Amino acid sequence: MQALRIRGGLPLRGELTIHGAKNSALPILAACLLVPAGCELYNVPGIDDVDCTLEILRQQGCRTAWRDGVLLVDAQQASGREIPEALAQRMRSSVLFLGSRLARFGAAEIAQPGGCELGPRPIDLHLRALCEIGASLDGTRCFLPKSAGGTAHLPYPSVGATENLMLAACGCAGPVVIENAACEPEIRDLAQFLIAAGMEITGAGTARITLRARPLHGACYTVMPDRIETATYLCAVAAAGGEITLHKTAPCTLLPVLAALEKGGCCVQQYAETICLSAPQRLCAAGTIVTAPYPAFPTDAQPPLMAAMAGACGQTRFAETVFSGRFGHVADLRRMGARIVLDGRLALVYGAPLHGAHLTAKDLRGGAALVTAALSAEGVSTVSGLHHLRRGYMELEENLKKLGADILTVEIS
Ligand code: EPU
Repeated sequence: MQALRIRGGLPLRGELTIHGAKNSALPILAACLLVPAGCELYNVPGIDDVDCTLEILRQQGCRTAWRDGVLLVDAQQASGREIPEALAQRMRSSVLFLGSRLARFGAAEIAQPGGCELGPRPIDLHLRALCEIGASLDGTRCFLPKSAGGTAHLPYPSVGATENLMLAACGCAGPVVIENAACEPEIRDLAQFLIAAGMEITGAGTARITLRARPLHGACYTVMPDRIETATYLCAVAAAGGEITLHKTAPCTLLPVLAALEKGGCCVQQYAETICLSAPQRLCAAGTIVTAPYPAFPTDAQPPLMAAMAGACGQTRFAETVFSGRFGHVADLRRMGARIVLDGRLALVYGAPLHGAHLTAKDLRGGAALVTAALSAEGVSTVSGLHHLRRGYMELEENLKKLGADILTVEIS
């Protein structure tokens, strides 16, 4: 079994270029199934979840190829073949093929998706909203007549449900309006891709999105920068000390994370596509962090920030309102000396010196938290469960090495 061996306590210094966003690339790839022509995608990250999505596309008769870092997807010959359960269960975003398959073929099997275990992750909101625009369910099958359309009101602004509706809307004769839609930047990115492919969409990035289906054609599109990868490197440097400059990122998509790090004593400078962060001698507590849908503090950045705050000076309070089980990293942080009190969806973090330990990533962002903590801790840590990290972080080890981290992939038994 492979693990990262990290000798912590070294400050990190240097510059990195941020990759394309995982949570944007995955829905855009699901959208490619709708386009009966070739699409060229730039800035798609080379991560395991993208590989899995490409496998799903190929399994459905699409052609995919990487050429000089550009991803080509051609869905002209796509068939309505079902996605094998084992493939669907490898990640959460496989559920988005429900919307794109309904729009393209009018029917699809409802496969239960997999993904990180962060508490219950039902798809009831996806199904209820699809039915509101005219879909029908028969056991595990879902149907969408060509005449579909109408208004769907989401009781909660679910990111995945909003994306599924947007994809399904591409196959509806009538206009589709999504009320209480998710406003995450990745939703806007999906809309921009669909617009480039011919759809008519207004309001993406607000709580009310209107979509009118138009004949789709091939498109070239550049995926937005990954705001969570950005947040992860910022937290790592805030925790370990040092300075970092991140290029090709989008500071405006992660303002609450930047504000929390500034509150912790970091000096943060933002430019159009660049962020510079300089860590203080000792990081201070960030006050109260409440995760919630965009534009609030993103749940995906909660674990890395908690890891940074675990070694900081003072008390930070985390309220996780998005996922009921997103404190899976706490047990391992405690093994490193962290003082964290859990009370349901609240975590009280009393900053304490961290030391190296044997750690196991249990989910993607929890894994990033353990790496962050290990970089700041005294002594050597090993982080296993690397398959979680590989699902969402491209070149993590190489990038941290570039910043001066003592990090190596090793075999452990
Ligand atoms: N929910 C329901 N029913 C539904 C859908 C969602 O109860 O039908 C609940 C979930 O259980 C959860 C909350 O609503 O408690 C939020 O779920 P949402 O649907 O908004 O999230 P998602 O689409 O499953 C995406 C990202 C997550 C990110 C969340 C929130 C992808 C592939 N995943 O998940 O990213 O945390 O939005 O921003 O886009 C990650 O990258 O590590 C990750 C988990």
